[in-house]
Amino acid sequence: MKLQLSKFDVLESTNTTAVTAAKEGAPEGTVIVAERQTGGHGRLQREWSSPKGGLWFTIVLRPKIDPQFVAQVTLLAGVAVTKALRILYKTDAIAIKWPNDLLLNKKKVCGMLSEMELDDKENIKYAIIGIGVNVATETKSFPLELQQTATSLNESMQASLSCEEVLDAILREFTELYDEWQQNGSAAMLQQWRSLNCTLGSMVKVKDDDQVIFAGTALAIDDQGAIVVSNNQGETQSFNFGEISIR
Ligand code: BTN
Repeated sequence: MKLQLSKFDVLESTNTTAVTAAKEGAPEGTVIVAERQTGGHGRLQREWSSPKGGLWFTIVLRPKIDPQFVAQVTLLAGVAVTKALRILYKTDAIAIKWPNDLLLNKKKVCGMLSEMELDDKENIKYAIIGIGVNVATETKSFPLELQQTATSLNESMQASLSCEEVLDAILREFTELYDEWQQNGSAAMLQQWRSLNCTLGSMVKVKDDDQVIFAGTALAIDDQGAIVVSNNQGETQSFNFGEISIR
């Protein structure tokens, strides 16, 4: 995949700009980066605080896969970003919480939001993956409720990396992993996901719209990116939606 970066001082949301570009035919590898976003958003329409100091970007993709496996794009991005951040910050304490949060010592440092559109033959027209990394955002500038659950990498790791350095490292890992995945399939990527996550083996509560709908031990993720959870009664269910809290 060849990358083509477009950098902006301010955008409403890099995902919104990337969707527009993708609809207009932007090639795979188009990357939209903004220093800050005025309408950054996360999963479940949540507001995503995006001041200057964080890394906010979206990659346009045109993967040649069956749409039922599109959630693998998010898993792949989780692997790429975790690998890059672990190398840059020289720590193994960064891990993936299913489906798409990266935690550093249980606090969120990165979130991802993917979107896609199918064509009239039900093939993937485009997929985008939006990635937000709290590189140098000050935790005291976070909304109060976020201060308990999120942190900034530079602050926590007493580092002073720039957003550019972090972006370069992530894009390097991402393109290598993406090309390998498109050529050889998902086995290697899923194996890396399993070794970089902090979800499997833990007691989790699966939530949909903030309501707990199932609780048990997270056993596996399947090829469609769903999490497989087994409860005390021996019932096993897979979820490819919602989010989890880890006990
Ligand atoms: C989440 O954890 O809920 C996902 C957050 C995704 C945030 C990123 S920042 C870059 C891109 N633009 C957006 O508006 N959202 C994503």
